[in-house]
Amino acid sequence: MADLSVRIAGVEFPNPVIAASGTYGNGECYTELYPLSRLGGVSCKGMTIEPKMGNVPPRIAETPSGILNSVGLQNIGVHGFVEYYLPTLKEEGNVIIANVAGAVLDDYIAAAEVLDASDVDMIELNISCPNVKAGGATWGVTKEGAAAVTHAVRKATKKPLIVKLTPNVTDITEIARAVEAEGADSISLINTLLGMRIDINSRRPILHNNVGGLSGPAVFPVAVRMVWQCYKAVHIPIIGMGGISTWEDAVEMILAGASAVQIGTAIFKDPYSPLKVIDGLSEYMDKNGIRSVSELVGQVKPW
Ligand SMILES: Cc1cc2nc3c(=O)[nH]c(=O)nc-3n(C[C@H](O)[C@H](O)[C@H](O)COP(=O)(O)O)c2cc1C
Repeated sequence: MADLSVRIAGVEFPNPVIAASGTYGNGECYTELYPLSRLGGVSCKGMTIEPKMGNVPPRIAETPSGILNSVGLQNIGVHGFVEYYLPTLKEEGNVIIANVAGAVLDDYIAAAEVLDASDVDMIELNISCPNVKAGGATWGVTKEGAAAVTHAVRKATKKPLIVKLTPNVTDITEIARAVEAEGADSISLINTLLGMRIDINSRRPILHNNVGGLSGPAVFPVAVRMVWQCYKAVHIPIIGMGGISTWEDAVEMILAGASAVQIGTAIFKDPYSPLKVIDGLSEYMDKNGIRSVSELVGQVKPW
């Protein structure tokens, strides 16, 4: 039998399939369907130091092969997460990843300090949020912004740190290198691509926020390309995501350079999709005599 376990930043995952932040809540809706321990890990709903109501609806719009969302980080706050969700997650799941967002550096630092003192296994830094002091531009769209937030959080925690990159940039590799230089233990990508839909009758944008993040199968080739570029640019392990819905997609993402994958939007269509990906990957490895996932990572043969 193939060994599906992977090690990222010193953390052992029993398999390389992780539920993506914002698409799995904090696991609470899925424990009735299957044990969380079937997954390699769970990246929890993005959390902020204070609770947030999120954006005004409509916050979801369907698109061909994907969805646009502008949920706006609705969450109960880091303290609420640690108190209400984390104990069950730790009891029932494998690797528990806290996904952290903030509007100013102090928010990120405060959240990281709370989590540092908690039982979470890893912190995933969402740098796709607006930097309020920089006029609302996203932290992760410049190497300076990405470096600043990584630097601040690195100082605030000893937990293994994954920095999650936004694809809404010209050169993803310069951002990846900047966060690696500031002490990120791993990078994950991609977050959603900024998009917009308009209702032609009302002439209003479908999302109340006007714009939102595109995810799902539509973004998969963009994600594969960016993971491949980052694999060649950094030495830290990569967690690949963006549009994965089948085990074949997961293998493709691993060949591009991902050491593990996250599955998001596909879970809305089929909550069992992460389990199907795990089984399919295992069979593929067995059939091809591959003993360890690491034998596949980055093994694409470019022309
Ligand atoms: C409804 C929704 C909410 C999301 N919330 C978060 C979040 O809180 N933090 C985060 O880092 N990413 C968030 N994401 C992005 C996903 O984690 C993932 O990066 C992205 O959707 C691409 O993967 P997918 O195509 O498999 O969904 C969200 C995505 C969706 C669809």
